[in-house]
Amino acid sequence: MRISVSSIVALAICIICSTACCNNDEYGYQIKNGIAVYNTPERPADQISMIGFAADPIDTVRVGFIGLGMRGPGAVERFTHIEGVRTVAICDLYPEKLEYVQKLLERGGKPRASEYSGEDGWKELCQRDDIDLIYIATPWLTHTPMAVYAMEQGKHVAVEVPAATSIDECWQLVNTAERTRRHCMMLENCVYDFFELTTLNMAQHGLFGEVIHTEGSYIHNLDPFWDEYQDNWRFEFNKAHRGDIYPTHGMGPACWALDIHRGDRMKTLVAMDTDAFNGRKLAQKRGEDSYANGDHTTTLIRTEKGKTIEIQHNVVTPRPYSRMYQVEGTEGFANKYPNQGYSIRTMGREIEGSQDGKAMFENLDGEAYVSKEMRDALMAEYQHPITREGSLVETAKKVGGHGGMDFIMDYRLIYCLRNGLPLDQDVYDAAEWSCLGELTRVSIENGNIPVAMPDFTRGGWNELDGLKLHIR
Ligand SMILES: NC(=O)c1ccc[n+]([C@@H]2O[C@H](COP(=O)([O-])OP(=O)(O)OC[C@H]3O[C@@H](n4cnc5c(N)ncnc54)[C@H](O)[C@@H]3O)[C@@H](O)[C@H]2O)c1
Repeated sequence: MRISVSSIVALAICIICSTACCNNDEYGYQIKNGIAVYNTPERPADQISMIGFAADPIDTVRVGFIGLGMRGPGAVERFTHIEGVRTVAICDLYPEKLEYVQKLLERGGKPRASEYSGEDGWKELCQRDDIDLIYIATPWLTHTPMAVYAMEQGKHVAVEVPAATSIDECWQLVNTAERTRRHCMMLENCVYDFFELTTLNMAQHGLFGEVIHTEGSYIHNLDPFWDEYQDNWRFEFNKAHRGDIYPTHGMGPACWALDIHRGDRMKTLVAMDTDAFNGRKLAQKRGEDSYANGDHTTTLIRTEKGKTIEIQHNVVTPRPYSRMYQVEGTEGFANKYPNQGYSIRTMGREIEGSQDGKAMFENLDGEAYVSKEMRDALMAEYQHPITREGSLVETAKKVGGHGGMDFIMDYRLIYCLRNGLPLDQDVYDAAEWSCLGELTRVSIENGNIPVAMPDFTRGGWNELDGLKLHIR
């Protein structure tokens, strides 16, 4: 076969055009044939997969809390209602935040905790040898550095959402957990909402047939809150970053319903945002002249098994709060906002006045929601087993935290640690749900191109057969 010089030149041009090198770092991406493809380096020899990982049981879980702003003190307070935990130490950058939290401990009948503050206070806290779990509720950019350091000090980690702000940080969490064999759970509370948990249980019992599409979002007008974040960290982050930078409240329940990395995996993503119409006004009000984050960001994800996920983010328009949460299957549908409802092909509304002694039903085609009575009956029947432990629901509602889901999250974390069970959320969940921050930005900034999503399990996504929340 004769190959001409011109065909070699044409081939070379073709390769150069189809592979634009954008980011050469170890975990960076290249654009190949119009798709952003991330590098997934081999797992280093000193690391082991964390799929199904369980640590030795811990009788009394000794905890250190870092970050005592709007979120952290509530967690300390909730822990005073959980058996088998001891708050050993508390830390904030600012020492004046500590005393309020000591009072919460006292009010809960618990001893005062050791105190840490200043730039390196959190490191000193992590270095203690009488702590099992570090609980992090600080600004986003500090999450991964703190979680990685804590694991390196031999501690399990619970870290607020999002656990990571870049793909590099996602890999840092995965690699460190795999190397140190420490849990790294992101504190994604929305998976523990009663409706989401019940719906998950219904999905696992096949009421919706095969689940093929899920939706979730963080739609929350933050106008009343911008000034409340310490040192303005949240505004500064939004000002500087395009993309869905707070995706995990939508992603968690959506991914659980689709068994992501328990039989399926997210493969491709495409994202699009609006201009920063209100964002720029927000920036101007604060004396700034630029604002990167689009007012409304929408992401579509396709999975290996042909399912889809839609995720939205919007914190600047005057819309009522919504996490969207929809589960759509071949035989049924669940919807959380604005009204909780189920539509199931084989279930209808009973029509008054049965004929020949037989009850009659309408809507058997799933065209409308089942009646409120039927929904309530379904929710009672399919209450998730993890919430049936003792008086958990009553305690959760009493203690509170977003209607009780925060308490269930903390309770489950401690329950699994005390019983030596795999945690409900593993480090791969933390990476998968957080990674949208960077991936959506890359899609948007390159003309809404598809992004091939990294597989943080490095091929282990099909080892487990469905999501399981363990009970002793
Ligand atoms: N899951 C949820 O529903 C939910 C709700 C609210 C907030 N959050 C998350 O909780 C985290 C904290 O949010 P917030 O609203 O409490 O913010 P915040 O600004 O009120 O509090 C952050 C605290 O961290 C402290 N801090 C900052 N740097 C520190 C350091 N180096 N060492 C020690 N302390 C440090 C600050 O002084 C401040 O007290 C964020 O990640 C946020 O996304 C989650």
